[in-house]
Amino acid sequence: MDYKCLLADRTNRMQANAIREILKVVATPGIISLAGGIPSPESFPMDIIRTLTQQVLEKYKSSAFQYDLTEGFLPLREQISILLGARGINILPDAVNITSGSQGVLDAIAKLTISKGDKIALESPTYLGALSAFNPYEPCYIPMEMDDEGLVPESLELVLKTHVIKFIYLVPTFQNPTGRSLTLERRIKIADIIQRHNVLLVEDDPYSSLRYKGDPVPAIKTLAPDHVIYISTLSKVFAPGLRIGFYAAPKFIREWLVLVKQGVDLHTSTFNQALAAEYLAGKHMDAHLPRIIDIYKPRQRAMTDALERMLPQGFSCAPSDGGMFLWVSGPKGFNALSLYDKAIEKGVAFVPGHFFYTDPEQGLETMRLNYTMADVATIEIAVEKLCDAIRDMQRREKK
Ligand SMILES: Cc1ncc(COP(=O)(O)O)c(C=O)c1O
Repeated sequence: MDYKCLLADRTNRMQANAIREILKVVATPGIISLAGGIPSPESFPMDIIRTLTQQVLEKYKSSAFQYDLTEGFLPLREQISILLGARGINILPDAVNITSGSQGVLDAIAKLTISKGDKIALESPTYLGALSAFNPYEPCYIPMEMDDEGLVPESLELVLKTHVIKFIYLVPTFQNPTGRSLTLERRIKIADIIQRHNVLLVEDDPYSSLRYKGDPVPAIKTLAPDHVIYISTLSKVFAPGLRIGFYAAPKFIREWLVLVKQGVDLHTSTFNQALAAEYLAGKHMDAHLPRIIDIYKPRQRAMTDALERMLPQGFSCAPSDGGMFLWVSGPKGFNALSLYDKAIEKGVAFVPGHFFYTDPEQGLETMRLNYTMADVATIEIAVEKLCDAIRDMQRREKK
């Protein structure tokens, strides 16, 4: 049978995530991977999960295994409303919706809003998973400029003056892939710009709780509540396999997003939502988050210090106060794609930054390095191997 002719047109833009292909190579024994993008399994509160499982069975009995509301399991929505309140986002439990990971709401937003050719403005580079969610609906991407303080507001202003945009997609805090964050000053400017242009912003915030230094910065949602869909997740502060995401959106959009979700999975796992509700209600997250930070903070420090010591001249690492990634840029002409095979020969893997750009001409000189999966000693060895590979490549190019 010709299976290919069964495929809808929208599959033209769907492709295997380049990073997943890279991760296949990385599974080879002897390779230290800085290529991953996942939390360390050491960060999962296994003992607490054991206790909570028992608690959920006793407290919710069979209702933890029943169909439930598409909007989400009410005890969890109550807890998320409190969690959002602590982030300065004040919404009632009724207005909180739960999704299957934040990926679930990115997909729903795309399905709800994007018609073929619609323009989406995004940071350059951006989160690949968002592109995977948006691509089937065949949008056009309008990349915006970033620097070490995140999105450049003037770039947003220019894009909004010159294009009709369906929505803006940003990861303003400890961005994947760069680890960079928008300053408060820029958040205020961006909030002002989106309100003046009356345009919708999708603010994706999976990492703000993973802060290793500096003071928290308010979400843009707190500055322009009617113009922002704020998305977050328990993936990095509880366990990603439970697939618990949540969002706060203007009422009109929220009601539509519920309709979209109904057609996809009816609702997120009731049992997992009940576990998450107990995790938050029992203040286990408050107790456990500092432990997660204790695992990642020294790893980030070790990587930053090692890069500072060992990176050849002309290379730099973007400053970052949290999250899971560091972003290295080389001098003009350096090609991180060509470095990749050489780094693998030395025994270290990373993700060439090029993959995170929607413009194929951009980002050849950049690399994303993950520090959550390796311990401090291994990170130091990995950075040494990486810098050796860069030097070898530079020597060979000079010959
Ligand atoms: C920026 C960003 N958004 C969304 C997600 C998806 O997270 P979730 O596990 O909640 O679907 C990730 C995961 O790495 C991410 O980095």
